[in-house]
Amino acid sequence: MQSVDNNEIGHAGLNGSSLVVTWVNGFEFLFHPLWLRESSTHPDYRDRGTQMRIPPAYKLPLDIAVSNFKLTKSGIQVLFSDGHMCQFTSSHLLSAARFKRPKHIQKNSAFWDGSFQDFKRFPYTQLQQNQQVLLEAMDVVSEFGFAYIEDIPLDLDELEVFARLVGPPRETNWGTITDVKNIPNPYDLTVTSRSLWPHVDNPYRFPAPGYIFMHCIHNDSVGGESTIVDGFNAAASLMKSDPKAFDALTTIAPNFRHIEENALLEDYGPMIELDEDGDVVRVRFSNRTEQIPTYSHDTLNRYYYGREKFSRLIFSEKMTLEIKLKPGDGFIWDNFRILHGRKAFDTNTGDRYMRHCYLDRDTFSSKHKCLKKMI
Ligand SMILES: [Fe+2]
Repeated sequence: MQSVDNNEIGHAGLNGSSLVVTWVNGFEFLFHPLWLRESSTHPDYRDRGTQMRIPPAYKLPLDIAVSNFKLTKSGIQVLFSDGHMCQFTSSHLLSAARFKRPKHIQKNSAFWDGSFQDFKRFPYTQLQQNQQVLLEAMDVVSEFGFAYIEDIPLDLDELEVFARLVGPPRETNWGTITDVKNIPNPYDLTVTSRSLWPHVDNPYRFPAPGYIFMHCIHNDSVGGESTIVDGFNAAASLMKSDPKAFDALTTIAPNFRHIEENALLEDYGPMIELDEDGDVVRVRFSNRTEQIPTYSHDTLNRYYYGREKFSRLIFSEKMTLEIKLKPGDGFIWDNFRILHGRKAFDTNTGDRYMRHCYLDRDTFSSKHKCLKKMI
């Protein structure tokens, strides 16, 4: 018996000026005639190499119609009322019918809390030498929000080499690589020996850093344990336990601001950001830099109520995973999901010296998709 290709078109028909396509797998879709016409694969309309559209789409008649069609071996040939004719493969039309938005974040994220101790640890040399392992680490970042890397050489320049396994790091007004250690005249609480509450980095930047790459150089002082919290899990818990608080934090947006001598960085957005499907795609949580505008009393009451509930979840021991990094250990954190912090450390007992840098979301996402396609 001949095998049936599920992407094969079973039959098609005209519905007014539109085209109805039914695949052998039973899926049916009604294509808008102008959508089909502007998606033409004809070389006069779309560059073969780059697949980019050439003429301005707005010049196509708004009342264009599909005049005729013919099923072919690979798909369908369509004739339009302006005389244009082009071919679509059945798999092209099927994926177009199902595709709505690019996905940068895995939808089936695995949520975790402070009891998550058996997370995977990746040896750095394997990440460097084996693209399959690099892909696995990026899959783990997509699923859990972070990956833990071990045995990174202690050269100060190695962090950039590490980051460039994924792509070029982002340069900010602090440079490309930032030293995280206790310094005199600190420009930020990060470069003190104080404890840091869980936070995302730099929600005041536009765009905000997408991913953080961290490298531990020294860590022998008393204290200084790293703390991380799954922001998506905290948001999901809030939605379940207190829908009123969740609703406030998804709809009322605070500002975030950072000022220093030659920089004034500011942006805004909800603490819990949802996509069109209502899924959480970003958490903004930065106690140091967040400020709600002077909204009405009612709005402020709702916001403060939500923030208090969400903060209690985030600051709870139950949610917090605590790890004391060894020299040579490193992290990749999704800065739209993972809140990170640290315990205070005693500079009289030793040194704590970390380096970090940022990668933009498109850099990570593009490398992830290309590796998936390649391997
Ligand atoms: Fe930070």
